Formats: sequence, C-alpha cells, structure tokens
Amino acid sequence: MGWNRFFPAILWVKLTFQIYCLYTFATYLGISKVIADRMQQIKPFHVMELLMRARELEAQGHSIIHMEVGEPDFTTPEPIIQAGHQALDDGRTHYTPAMGLPELRQAIAAQYNRRFGLDIDHSRVVVTPGASGALQLLLSVLINPGDGVLLADPGYPCNRNFVHMVGGEPQVVDVGPDTDYQLSASLIERNWSSNTKAVMVASPSNPTGTMLSRQQLLEINRIVEQRGGVLIVDEIYQGLVYEAEEHSALEISDRVFVINSFSKYFGMTGWRLGWLVAPQGTIGPLDRLAQNIFLCAPTLSQYAALAAFSDECIGILEQRKAIFKQRRDYLMPALEDLGFRFQTKPQGAFYLYGDCSRHTNDSTAFAHALLEQMGVAVTPGMDFGANAPEKHLRFAYTTDIELLREGVSRIKQFVGR
Ligand SMILES: Cc1ncc(COP(=O)(O)O)c(C=O)c1O
Repeated sequence: MGWNRFFPAILWVKLTFQIYCLYTFATYLGISKVIADRMQQIKPFHVMELLMRARELEAQGHSIIHMEVGEPDFTTPEPIIQAGHQALDDGRTHYTPAMGLPELRQAIAAQYNRRFGLDIDHSRVVVTPGASGALQLLLSVLINPGDGVLLADPGYPCNRNFVHMVGGEPQVVDVGPDTDYQLSASLIERNWSSNTKAVMVASPSNPTGTMLSRQQLLEINRIVEQRGGVLIVDEIYQGLVYEAEEHSALEISDRVFVINSFSKYFGMTGWRLGWLVAPQGTIGPLDRLAQNIFLCAPTLSQYAALAAFSDECIGILEQRKAIFKQRRDYLMPALEDLGFRFQTKPQGAFYLYGDCSRHTNDSTAFAHALLEQMGVAVTPGMDFGANAPEKHLRFAYTTDIELLREGVSRIKQFVGR
C-alpha cells in the first residue's frame, strides 16, 4: 500500500492531534481545573470519533458501509412502538417507582421462567436506564475506593471507566483463544489480589461474541465465592445466540448479579432501558441509590417494553436473530478469505473480533485509512483494551447482508493494493 493513499487519514489524524494539543494547552492554562481528577482515568470511546467521521463523510455524499456500530440496524419492533404510542396517549408521563413499574419487573421475572425455568421473585428485578445505568448503579453500591474488579481484556471498554468512576481499581486480565476470550476460573484464581472484590464477565461478550458455558460459569462462581467476592455477569446479548445452548448465570446461583438490557435483542437502544437481577438482601441499597441518581428509568420506555415479551414481538425478534446468524455465517468466512483470522467462532452478539496482523500492525491507522479511502467503517482494537489492540479489528454485522457484501468487496480492494 502506498503511503500517499493514507494521506486523507493522516490529515485527519493530524487535525485530531492539533485539537488534542489545543486542549492540552488549555488545560495547562488552568481552564479545566474545574474538572475532577478522576476524569483523567476516563478514556473516550474511540469508535465514536470514527462514527462521527463516517457521518461527516456521509453528509458530504460519500457512500459508507457501517460495520462499526454496536446496535441493531432494525428499528424497534412495531408492537413495542405501538405500546409506546399508547402510553403517550394515556398520559404516562410521570415518574414510576425507582425500581421500575411493578408489571414490568413481573414481566422480566416471568421471562426467566419461560426461557430458563427459573423462579425469580420480581422484587429482585431492578429496572434501569440501560444496562449502562445498571452497571453504574451496581458498581456504586458494591465497590469501595481501592477495591479491585477483575475484567477481561479485550472487553467492553465502559466497564473499566465505571470502576474508575467509583474509585475502584480495574484489574485487567489478558484473555485469548485458549479460553474463548473469556475469564476462566484458573485465570481468576491466578489474578486474584488482596484487594479484589468483584469479577465482571459478559456472555456473549463484546467485542468477541464468545460465551461462557454453564460449567464454566459454575467454576467461575465457585472460585469467586471461595474468595468471598462478588460475581457480575453481563447478559446484555442474551437472545442473540446462534448455536450454543443459552444459559443465564441465575441458573447457577441466586447470589450472582446479572445485568441485562432491552437494547440489543429487543432492538431498543435509544429507549435507554435495561435491568439488573440482584440477590434479595441487596435490593434496599440499590433502591436507595437509584432513587437518588435516576429517580426512575424512562417511563414511556417502561410501558413500551411491556409489549416486548408478547408472542408477536418475540416472533419478530426471532426472525431478526436468524438474519444476524445469516450475516455472521457470510461475513466470517468472507473476511477469512481476505486474510483476517478468527481463532474462535463467535456464538453470539453481532461482532467478529479479527486478527488483522497479516495486513497491518496498526489497526487504528488501518481503520481510519479504510474509512477515508473505501468508505468502510470498522472499530479498531484500541477501544477494547491493551491486549494487542493494534492487531485487532471489530467487525459488527449490524448492516444488511448486501451492504456487508459491498463492504467485503471494498476491503478486498483495499488490502489488495
Ligand atoms: C457488553 C455490554 N454491556 C453493556 C452495554 C450497554 O448497553 P445499554 O446501556 O444500551 O443497555 C453494552 C453496549 O454496547 C455492551 O456491549
């Protein structure tokens, strides 16, 4: 690849660097002295910068294939939208209880019974503004300043930032294909420190789409309990599992904390609605803090979500899931043919986390050049941690299969240069 082809990307990086220098200078002058020290630990979501640039290019009339976006391309299913309209017509514009609408908490508890045969008391369900709200609420309630939280790298970037926000210490553990890019009981045992308080895992995971089996969850939970710690399992991609048997961590213990959301399977990212299932004795503090920081999750969204578990809605969502599977089954081998390596087959979510070292050892420069020159947006590994990020790219199949085909053909052209 001739470097002159990177010219627009280099210009872009230069501009970003200049803005950064200006910001640093302003900081030096003391303008940002008002900002709390903890903000030095909070890293930006780099993909947002890429997304902004992609939108800018689109606004200029360029055709962009979006493989960077971590949300379903489908709009929210019609039954949920109708229920949202109805809630508005009915004047449902007030606060709900901080823990959520009782009928929604019951509906969430009932779906654990339908899907996994579990008897979850609805008083253990906390409705939150997205899984993001649940993660912040939970970490604020559990983590004291200085407490350690074990996390997988690569992993969902916000978790590290949330731990910093509450004064905790993210204890990041490199994971690879040998453990399906997940923390294992032995990794947890080996990396447990005197200040470790909690372990966070996600199944399926972002960015790798890999899962923890029931047995692996059992082993992880056993070691965490032996050490007197807390296990937090993020199940936000539940429902988007293509062949593995699906489990909830709630099957293995009623002492684990389980995070979930209406964002991904239910296609409600913009409605900002998620939930947390917590052990019985922890609901009091969660309620107290939720009353203070959120008051409640968005009321309209809660009423709309009551329609999410209807047969009609699940029918639509299952069709969408089949489409995601079809896309994954197309995209993975197509990218492998172009020299990207996937050392494990992702079983869920809508991501492929590929080794791009055959083409580059700088995935960030690669992603920027790919966007500028070919109009294909993918996420560089740097968003997901410090474990060889420069050798990895995340491809999201949240785009129509015909567009994915076009994306693959543009990538082929790019890497073939
Ligand atoms: C693993 C994981 N957890 C939590 C979230 C937050 O989701 P939301 O706040 O939209 O429910 C995301 C979003 O991408 C995610 O990938």
